[in-house]
Amino acid sequence: MSHRYLPLAPRCPHMLHGGDYNPDQWPPEVWDEDMRLMNLAGCNAMSVGIFAWARLEPAEGQYDFGWLDTIMDKLADNNAVAVLATPSGARPAWMSAAYPEVLRCGPNRVRNLHGARHNHCYTSPVYRQKTAAINRLLAERYAKHPALAVWHISNEYGGACYCPLCEAAFREWLKARYGSLDALNAAWWTSFWAHTYTDWSQVEAPAPHGEGSVHGLNLDWKRFVTDQTLDFYRHEIAPLRELTPDLPITTNFMGTYPGLNYWKFVGDLDVVSWDNYPSWHSGQSDAETAVGVSMVNDIYRAMKGGRPWMLMESTPSMTNWQQVCKLKRPGMHLLASLQAVAHGSDTVQYFQWRKSRGSSEKFHGAVVDHVGHEHTRVFSDVAQVGAALARLDDVVGTTCLPDVALIYDWENEWAMADAQGPRQQKGYHGAVLDHYRPFWQAGIPVDVIDSVQDYSRYRLLIAPMLYMLRPGVAERMQAFVEAGGTLVTTYHSGIVNESDLCFLTGWPGPLRGLLGIWNEEIDALYEGQTQTIAPSNDFCGLSGSYQARDLCALIWAETAQVLATYETDFYAGNPAVTVNHIGAGRAYYVAPRMDQRFQSDFLLQLAADLGIERVLPGQLPDGVTAQLRTDGEREFVFVLNFTTEAQRVEIGEGWTNLLTGEACSTALRLDGYGVAVLASS
Ligand code: GLA
Ligand code: ZN
Repeated sequence: MSHRYLPLAPRCPHMLHGGDYNPDQWPPEVWDEDMRLMNLAGCNAMSVGIFAWARLEPAEGQYDFGWLDTIMDKLADNNAVAVLATPSGARPAWMSAAYPEVLRCGPNRVRNLHGARHNHCYTSPVYRQKTAAINRLLAERYAKHPALAVWHISNEYGGACYCPLCEAAFREWLKARYGSLDALNAAWWTSFWAHTYTDWSQVEAPAPHGEGSVHGLNLDWKRFVTDQTLDFYRHEIAPLRELTPDLPITTNFMGTYPGLNYWKFVGDLDVVSWDNYPSWHSGQSDAETAVGVSMVNDIYRAMKGGRPWMLMESTPSMTNWQQVCKLKRPGMHLLASLQAVAHGSDTVQYFQWRKSRGSSEKFHGAVVDHVGHEHTRVFSDVAQVGAALARLDDVVGTTCLPDVALIYDWENEWAMADAQGPRQQKGYHGAVLDHYRPFWQAGIPVDVIDSVQDYSRYRLLIAPMLYMLRPGVAERMQAFVEAGGTLVTTYHSGIVNESDLCFLTGWPGPLRGLLGIWNEEIDALYEGQTQTIAPSNDFCGLSGSYQARDLCALIWAETAQVLATYETDFYAGNPAVTVNHIGAGRAYYVAPRMDQRFQSDFLLQLAADLGIERVLPGQLPDGVTAQLRTDGEREFVFVLNFTTEAQRVEIGEGWTNLLTGEACSTALRLDGYGVAVLASS
């Protein structure tokens, strides 16, 4: 069945290309030159107004939209669209002076001075009222403006405020969640260390000089911060929804930023977007960096069920905040930009258009450097991306619906990070990545999802280290397997419930019956220490010894079949990998953290047994991936070479390379950092 999402900006049905544009930092003489340069660079979408509050409302209640009117008109005249921001990411000095409550308090309960950005209280009625007022004015003024295409809400929501208003709101949130103090005391296990609360007023947010050891409290505080930020976001968008009901709304996220559970926002966003700043050319290989980026891209594609998303920020050259701000090597800018498109982005946006002359970001990469003209290496790299995107109209609105889902659960990460033991470094992110990497290298698409999503669409579900099982997850996994799905989970899964209380029925808690094992203990290994495991003859064709590290669960097979056993230490002979047949499906448990050879051999054989296809039929060279976008009929395969060497890739017949317009032979040659976009006819 053919399905294509509508372009984000119907007036500009192309890949969007552009980025954060701050004409408010520059005199009007520069603006026409900006427009000329945007044309040259193939830019058609600019994010404006992000930190422009002081310019829009120079004094309380006195507004100046004239400059923005001019910019919006110029963008429209230039056939570009505006991604128009609400300015709440930073507030004007007059506001902090007149209403100190808008300023954030730190965990030490000291109120910040005016300064920086993202330094505001999400609860403050004054800040909410001021934000709603300016947002309403923006919407009223530009609702019908031909340039306006997408709302960009605030900027990178993050952090938390510990002011009295926020603590009071937290207590209300807790009352709504638990109903009674008795229920809260039970959920947080407050009998430990005499933490029992006898009055709601005694409940305080976590603090470095106060409470930090009640895990249920820490977890609920993080949930509250997410909900309060979301509530603030809903407040921001209310006037926009009212006045511009047809315009898409987004807010830019920060990868796997741990401070907010982004999945909670999904229902209130029309399109998801994120800001991506990988450390290319660093100590690890670019291919490894690319695997990490791809995994995050696959979270953002999965968030709205495959709807194209926006790469809202990336740097055209370097950042100014990484420990070492290395330049992108020739080829990397196009490759990295098309990597986002390969995973479902319909935009390539930058921070920033014109490099600011002063203040803290004056050395951050930009399309237009301080020298001010187009004759720079970076500008031509950007123009090259513009030209490439202009050839990808057919890809706009296409998607990918993988058979494989991998769980990356924010709340699980929170709970695990807080737990003391079995290793202080749990390595959750790395564990998920270890399960993602084989698919990336094989060119098998993966959705990276939250644990509380619907699994029914997938054939293979992988849930590494799902330490915390939120309500309904075990039941849905059971139903998924019974209906014929294949589940893989690992050590350190099914340990605590959503309040961070340990299950008392033996690990892996409510998954015990599904997995058919009992996990009695878990061993932790020092850095560099390993164990080995040996597969049995009928285990996915695996052979030889495989290496385990970090964490080794000691398990008993109850109804499960043993597929591999430990070879070393006092648990030699104990089960290391098991499978349990339930209904029409299977549930695997991998007891130790395994080496990459095991991950590839096991997961790719499993995928092959399930008939899950690779995007390209052959084996891809190391460091090369292939990713799919499709409208259900036509296929677009992005082949991306993250090595510095030229690579030959077998692609079979019937492809055209959209970037060159040429028909391909059955073997594709990619330069180092080369990329091709193959289209089926
Ligand atoms: C973030 C912000 C931008 C800018 C960039 C710099 O993503 O949203 O305003 O500060 O970082 O990399
Ligand atoms: Zn506050």
